[in-house]
Amino acid sequence: MGVERAFFVSAVDRRYVAWFGNFLTAAQRSGSPHVVKFSGMGAGIGSPSEILRQHGETDEALADSGLPYTILRPNSFYQNMLWSAGTIKDHGAFYLPMGNARQSLVDVRDIAAVAVEVLTGTGHEGKTYVITGPESLSYHEVANKLSAVLGRSIRYVDVPPEVAFDSMLKAGMPQWNARAVTELYGVFAAGEAAGTTATVERITGRTPISFDQFVRDHAAAFS
Ligand SMILES: NC(=O)c1ccc[n+]([C@@H]2O[C@H](COP(=O)([O-])OP(=O)(O)OC[C@H]3O[C@@H](n4cnc5c(N)ncnc54)[C@H](OP(=O)(O)O)[C@@H]3O)[C@@H](O)[C@H]2O)c1
Repeated sequence: MGVERAFFVSAVDRRYVAWFGNFLTAAQRSGSPHVVKFSGMGAGIGSPSEILRQHGETDEALADSGLPYTILRPNSFYQNMLWSAGTIKDHGAFYLPMGNARQSLVDVRDIAAVAVEVLTGTGHEGKTYVITGPESLSYHEVANKLSAVLGRSIRYVDVPPEVAFDSMLKAGMPQWNARAVTELYGVFAAGEAAGTTATVERITGRTPISFDQFVRDHAAAFS
């Protein structure tokens, strides 16, 4: 009892909905905390992506729970590019099944700043915040920005979804996760995560971190 605020974030996993159910039961037993839930841009029960359906189902369960709540729906993180740091270092290239789609990637530091404000401030109950970076970038533009900041040529190589799936399996990702992430890439490749929002500036009062700044801050990881 006596819990006033609670934050839920969980790993990408086939058991996600059950895990959130356990959390919700515990939250309801602990009083009536304001629950801040991490979700994802495009979450919805009708999504072609299982990950986004899981988020949609659990976001709805929270909204229907009677607890005060705020849902955070960030776009993909800039920091996901660190998964490609090895090939960027070794081959001057990164490989993704994104075609020419644009995506308004966002820095996790900005998402965290929004979460802190929501957890410590007022006026956020019943709200769903879609959190994006300041620019909608194609992965060719991402490559150009990496090249400019790192001072050497970095290429984006568009690969078929099955190649991305195989490489995730080879890297040790469980089969369910590799399939679910490949499916999610398909949603992004269709341009569904291209739009930008003003959430970071509106909630935190500061300009969102640019992709150039992210690369400058992590240059050592890519070099
Ligand atoms: N990545 C994105 O761009 C993005 C964007 C929007 C929303 N989201 C959402 O944010 C959440 C986290 O995403 P992510 O990409 O960071 O996911 P992730 O790669 O699946 O999760 C990473 C973290 O979860 C930990 N973890 C995994 N299984 C665990 C378990 N059974 N118990 C405790 N910890 C466990 C991992 O620990 P170890 O490192 O020790 O294995 C790691 O620290 C997901 O709900 C995802 O849908 C992600």
